[in-house]
Amino acid sequence: MPYPLSHIAVFASGTGTTLQTLIDQQTQCGYRIALVVTNRPCPSLQRAEQADIPTLLSTDWTDIDHALQQHHIQLVVLAGFLAIIPEWICTKWDKRIINIHPSLLPKHGGKGMYGIHVQEAVLAAGDTVAGCTVHYVSAAIDGGSIIAQAQVEVLPNDTPESLSARVQQQEKRLLPRTIAEIIQNS
Ligand code: GAR
Repeated sequence: MPYPLSHIAVFASGTGTTLQTLIDQQTQCGYRIALVVTNRPCPSLQRAEQADIPTLLSTDWTDIDHALQQHHIQLVVLAGFLAIIPEWICTKWDKRIINIHPSLLPKHGGKGMYGIHVQEAVLAAGDTVAGCTVHYVSAAIDGGSIIAQAQVEVLPNDTPESLSARVQQQEKRLLPRTIAEIIQNS
């Protein structure tokens, strides 16, 4: 391993609460966030800057690919990154990009399924169990192989927001732990 702590990149487009969890747990989980990539101005950028992490705001995948190499990135983590990853990036970084999705895939994945829309779909389907999934990223949206999942009970009075809050708590436990396991096994 070229560095004492594995270099990871986090891609985020939103409020960045998942990114913040990953920042807070980086040393204890055996990784260092060496780059944060966003595709739009968003609070994730400020969180990264406050933690002195290099950032890249770009939608140019050639530039993003170069930055990943420049920062010696070993694993890319999508944490609320709302853009489709082009096929050539999926191929080039095969098994080195993971995503956290707020459902028990293969349920409630695919195009348009992100954020609160996922829990709306869970409630509309009458599911009694919800949850989150960490999976490898492939060209099929939310279709890469599943690495880990955590379940959350759906309560009778749940709203999309209340369910989402409990799922997000589980996401923030599952994701750092899964990254640590991937690093240990690599
Ligand atoms: C997370 O709940 C993540 O699972 C979801 O976006 C949220 C990001 O929140 N990702 C998807 O829906 C991907 N399909 P954050 O910006 O506060 O970290």
